[in-house]
Amino acid sequence: MERLQKYISECGVTSRRKAEELIKLGKVKVNGEVVRELGTKVSGNDVVVVNGQVLKSELKEYYILYKPREVISSVSDNKGRKTVIDFVKTDARIYPVGRLDYDTTGIIILTNDGELSNILTHPSRDVEKEYFAKVKVFFSKEDAAKLCKGIMLNGVKTKPAFFKLKKYDKKTDISYVKVVITEGRNHQVKDMFMSLGYDTLKLKRERYAFLDLSGLKSGEYRKLSLKEVKQLYSLK
Ligand code: URA
Repeated sequence: MERLQKYISECGVTSRRKAEELIKLGKVKVNGEVVRELGTKVSGNDVVVVNGQVLKSELKEYYILYKPREVISSVSDNKGRKTVIDFVKTDARIYPVGRLDYDTTGIIILTNDGELSNILTHPSRDVEKEYFAKVKVFFSKEDAAKLCKGIMLNGVKTKPAFFKLKKYDKKTDISYVKVVITEGRNHQVKDMFMSLGYDTLKLKRERYAFLDLSGLKSGEYRKLSLKEVKQLYSLK
């Protein structure tokens, strides 16, 4: 059993907030009766009708995609750019869990399971995200230590992280750095480098919790197994 507004939003017809408005406006019927109580509990056996439309609860689907560059991490784009959803053949209303920048490549989870999405993106969960970054100029040990400890970004200190120089190419003056963070603030890795004057030339997310890109080429995706989904839930 779950709250009516949550059930409606999970069926994909509208957001939870809009669903609340529709309930208050008397536009929602449960088993033939208009329901205006926000707390009402329903299950998959109840017939829920919103604005005259019978809801069908969608089966949950879970994917990981190897996101290429120049792809936007949203469901649609008003500038007509390719989105992560365009890669996956499904009729389910999936969406990305968190975001990768337009020019960032790598692993991203796509699902229509709002509960799992909330678990994974909640700041208290500390889900590890591992990146490989190519940055301009030599990345010093002192700066790595500063970023690992945490620096101020938009007035809030970053949580402890892992930054380690893997390779430095003298000819091009480019450093290759492994990064592990547990937060998911917008442009976080690039902004952390930039706070100490390093320009990120390329960024790839290689791991999300225990999931990596094994067996996938850029633009390819696969379904998650039931075991993997359970493991993601257990990150609770
Ligand atoms: N940090 C960034 O700066 N960009 C991303 O896409 C992901 C993490």
